[in-house]
Amino acid sequence: MSLSVVMLGDIVGRPGQRGVCQQAGALRERYNADLLIANAENAAGGSGLTPAIFHKLISYGVDGVTLGDHVYRQRDIVQLLETDSRIARPANLAESAAGKLFSRIVSSNGDAVYVITVLGRLSMNGPAADDPYACVDLLLDELTDAPVIVEIHAELTSEKQALGHYLDGRVAAVVGTHTHIPTADAKILPGGTAYITDLGMTGPYDSVLGRRKEAVIKFMTTSMPEQFGIAEGDIRVCGVHVSINGKGLADSIERVEAKADMSLPPFVGE
Ligand SMILES: [Fe+2]
Ligand SMILES: [Fe+2]
Repeated sequence: MSLSVVMLGDIVGRPGQRGVCQQAGALRERYNADLLIANAENAAGGSGLTPAIFHKLISYGVDGVTLGDHVYRQRDIVQLLETDSRIARPANLAESAAGKLFSRIVSSNGDAVYVITVLGRLSMNGPAADDPYACVDLLLDELTDAPVIVEIHAELTSEKQALGHYLDGRVAAVVGTHTHIPTADAKILPGGTAYITDLGMTGPYDSVLGRRKEAVIKFMTTSMPEQFGIAEGDIRVCGVHVSINGKGLADSIERVEAKADMSLPPFVGE
């Protein structure tokens, strides 16, 4: 068995949704992808995800969705987190936090992957997170019948690299999200696990992390609170393509980056 998986970084607002709408089909074709998985923690106006946007992303060709520190910003996502196998909450939150600890995403051929998202503990503003290492260890004891992808949603490059090496040889891929900046270090680690520090953002790059640059600069230069709003220009879809082999490890990883065609209508076919 081999599985071709495209993973996309944080979808930001409607520009990010627009990028997915326009590029999902082309990416699936280019990489002969069995699965397209995207982080959507910023899809709803920059913060969280609603069930309606989740279903929209699925209709654009996304097979499974991950989240991050903004997981509960849109409260009506909770039921989906508990019932739909294509989406899960970060695993290392409080035990009583709503939602499943991992997703199981199945291709049209019936091939499955498990996806676990863990939050970093260093320099994060979101909910307090438990030990991501121990958390993944426990889950891996249980998830033995399909390849596992681990997403580390964290600020610090060091924390992401350490988890990548910790899991090397035990999971198919460790990919980072949260910083919205794609990194140039996609590689196969010595034990056969694909790794990248950050997938980057799926959203407007003429911005500060997807937010209007003028508003962020004003805040940075005056210290006065500002509504940042979502930027609009230079929409790109960023992530990686990973080939998973029959051993549940990776044969290759390469960066994916596609620009939206801003001359097309915002939502093709909607
Ligand atoms: Fe994000
Ligand atoms: Fe985040």
